[in-house]
Amino acid sequence: MGICLSARIKAESPCHTGGSSKPVSTDGNDLSRSSSKASSVSVPPRSEGEILQSSNLKSFSFSDLKMSTRNFRPDSVLGEGGFGSVFKGWIDENSLTASKPGTGTVIAVKRLNQEGLQGHKEWLAEVNYLGQFYHRHLVKLIGYCLEDEHRLLVYEFMPRGSLENHLFRRGSYFQPLSWNLRLKVALGAAKGLAFLHGAETKVIYRDFKTSNILLDSNYNAKLSDFGLAKDGPTGDKSHVSTRVMGTHGYAAPEYLATGHLTARSDVYSFGVVLLEMLSGRRAVDKNRPSGEHNLVEWAKPYLANKRKIYRVLDNRLEGQYTLDVAYKAANLALRCLSTEPKFRPNMDEVVKELEELHDLKETGNTRSDQTSAPKPRRRSAGDVGNGNTAAAYPRPSTSPLYTK
Ligand SMILES: Nc1ncnc2c1ncn2[C@@H]1O[C@H](COP(=O)(O)OP(=O)(O)OP(=O)(O)O)[C@@H](O)[C@H]1O
Ligand SMILES: [Mg+2]
Repeated sequence: MGICLSARIKAESPCHTGGSSKPVSTDGNDLSRSSSKASSVSVPPRSEGEILQSSNLKSFSFSDLKMSTRNFRPDSVLGEGGFGSVFKGWIDENSLTASKPGTGTVIAVKRLNQEGLQGHKEWLAEVNYLGQFYHRHLVKLIGYCLEDEHRLLVYEFMPRGSLENHLFRRGSYFQPLSWNLRLKVALGAAKGLAFLHGAETKVIYRDFKTSNILLDSNYNAKLSDFGLAKDGPTGDKSHVSTRVMGTHGYAAPEYLATGHLTARSDVYSFGVVLLEMLSGRRAVDKNRPSGEHNLVEWAKPYLANKRKIYRVLDNRLEGQYTLDVAYKAANLALRCLSTEPKFRPNMDEVVKELEELHDLKETGNTRSDQTSAPKPRRRSAGDVGNGNTAAAYPRPSTSPLYTK
């Protein structure tokens, strides 16, 4: 099976390289929550009429956001994604108007690249999904700006940035996350997904990955980026059919093969992220020796064997976990990664199991096991260094994923 992954999002024509940032039709991400059916035609309407009336969002003017981010100053960039850049800004907490930098409430402003309104559908999906939800494990969308060609989103600021940075960025600011914090983050993110999959919400997130898990000052995880979210199947339907979108390395095999999307596709992506957290390795890493490029393929044989899981576990976690808890966590990841979707747990079950692991840790029940903690293992050739070097790696980005 061949998969073509364009470096940037939303290129409609398959597998062409070089022109990946060209604006093209974004058909395929039908926004069933959009109030306008017309959004699925080739030139989607681009008015505030598309925004669900029920959302409780502030409509910002462009000049307001310009002011609050100090004219989108490069030194206020928090990160870059396939859609554009994210800037730090300030607003007055009562009036929600721009405030002097350093005063009021800190916000994160995502500004879409202005190449022909590429990404409008994803922008709208974000507004319409996130605008309706309120949950402690979903990032709060404060408002948006829709003015001429400008498309911006205004979020609560997440002081510790993305899980991706904590796991894979090297440098003094990003110390390796401890075992306990990894469990906490995994649990928070799992709760966010479980909420989305819940009977009242029934939404498939479709873009679960480390860069979309943001952390507050206490390492509470919150999901961001609902640009690819879809309503789950209704009635007696087992799945929704979509164009295959996502990020290479995270999409479930049956979704890649058929375009059939279910909540269990998200569970698979959760398994990939859990494995990244346990191993400190990226889902796809071409810098590793051959045979280790794809994390899931490489790690699966080790996860099922209690004596072999150390080969997968992040060296930087040594001494912080017990064999028992590590094995349970590895086993959970393995089940989420079942090729057969029906063998994957649902997100409620995942939450329950992670809570138990968390409790084991909290109550210290496993302390006696500490003596059976692994002996430091030798570093393999592909292991990361001591954390002081910048990791040169092309970041995975949300894209159409083509299969043949
Ligand atoms: N609310 C926020 N608070 C703090 N930092 C944020 C916030 N939202 C995003 N960021 C930072 O900006 C980065 C870019 O986010 P963005 O969602 O645009 O792209 P991405 O998730 O990295 O990639 P993709 O485009 O494939 O989804 C994030 O990885 C994160 O570091
Ligand atoms: Mg993102």
